[in-house]
Amino acid sequence: MEPYRIKVVEPIPQPTRQQREEALKRVHYNLFDLRAEEVTIDLLTDSGTGALSAAQLAAGMAGDESYSGSRSFYRFHEAVTELTGYAHILPAHQGRAAERILFSTLLEPGRIVLANTHFDTTRANVELAGAEARDLPCAEARNLDSPAPFKGNIDLDALTATLAGPDGSRVAMVVMTITNNGGGGQPVSMDNLKRTSALCRQYGVPFFLDAARFAENAWLVTRHEAAYRDRTPRQVAEEAFRLADGCMMSAKKDAIVHIGGFIGLNDPELAQRCELLLIATEGFATYGGLAGRDLDMMAQGLTEVTEPSYLAERADVAAHLAHRVRAAGVDIIEPPGMHALYLNAGRLLPHIPPHHFPGHALACQLYLEGGIRSAELGSLYLGEEDEQGNPVKSAPYELVRLALPRRVYTRSHYDHVGDTLARIAKRADSVHGFRIVEQSPILRHFRATLAPVPVES
Ligand code: F0G
Repeated sequence: MEPYRIKVVEPIPQPTRQQREEALKRVHYNLFDLRAEEVTIDLLTDSGTGALSAAQLAAGMAGDESYSGSRSFYRFHEAVTELTGYAHILPAHQGRAAERILFSTLLEPGRIVLANTHFDTTRANVELAGAEARDLPCAEARNLDSPAPFKGNIDLDALTATLAGPDGSRVAMVVMTITNNGGGGQPVSMDNLKRTSALCRQYGVPFFLDAARFAENAWLVTRHEAAYRDRTPRQVAEEAFRLADGCMMSAKKDAIVHIGGFIGLNDPELAQRCELLLIATEGFATYGGLAGRDLDMMAQGLTEVTEPSYLAERADVAAHLAHRVRAAGVDIIEPPGMHALYLNAGRLLPHIPPHHFPGHALACQLYLEGGIRSAELGSLYLGEEDEQGNPVKSAPYELVRLALPRRVYTRSHYDHVGDTLARIAKRADSVHGFRIVEQSPILRHFRATLAPVPVES
């Protein structure tokens, strides 16, 4: 059961089917352009969408809004230092700001960043710094149906080969994303983290965590890694941070706040250079673009997020939804992680070719049928077509992500998602695809406009 009770509520919009049809047409079938009041269950992201606890709100009330040296900063600093052990902590307004500051300080054109899988803003910030973002996911990750517990791991053989090979001298850093959002929300084992850390030390390459979901990773380690069964998630998390030379954190996930982030570093010289860029572009080093109340709410959230009862319930809710989705006849990336389920839309809608976007088709149906907003992670996001709309490149998988906001929706909300999917799956062959009408040159899924392509009979 949920280890909390609810004392503040927000009504959920319940537009009619006709209103949803009209809304979809109005936004040219781009779900990002819906107004929140048109969405019944919003599973677009788990980022910044969580519910604050009473203790977080109270901490926010105690926020000290001094421009420099605020009490809030020192409380935040102490909480993050105790958790991570890093010598230098720089606040930033969100994860991608932390990425930009770290990468533009550490990277140069021609350098390479290796990762289990870069999240899309992480990749974008590596590339903006002129460097190459290279993913080395483990072999198990390629089998979406395999229930292997640590499919977020980096491929250690490929990592060793790259570090020892001709590109080795160009590797500027190794990033481990925990949990691996771009790779189905799968966790990374402590064994994989330790071996990566040792390899980085051996080759003299800095090792960083993208720690957005560090607590969920730690929970899955306590469940599935024999050597950690008797540890608390907090102990696992503390150990994980100490295996790396630093971290970037989007606090909008596992600090359960609406905005916030930070960089943790051990290297004093790097910290000093990052701090100068932080001051020039985010804000002074004791607030980093945040209000004092945000820093206090982060500090409190970081203590709540590793509570075993909170994490157990979060995993259980994801498993509950996974069960409903499988019962509806829809496959997911197995095993279900904690922050999201990834639906295998390509398999559910085999009659829709990748360049007519099966994932997007399913996401639109989820909205039309149940007012549910999700995110396509398929060929609309990763593919490419020529001027005539013929395929040039398609995504490896056609997926739809159902992200689970923290402490927001209950099992009955997720049952509605399961029921909606079951209705769609029953007449999957009548679901139609889409073609792009207009698109932007980069990150096209955010701004593209689309039109339906009728099902061929
Ligand atoms: N790293 C990871 C692993 C992420 O999932 C995200 C954001 C970021 C970095 C960037 O952080 O949003 O605070 O700037 N992920 C969100 C998502 C947007 O929906 O998965 P940010």
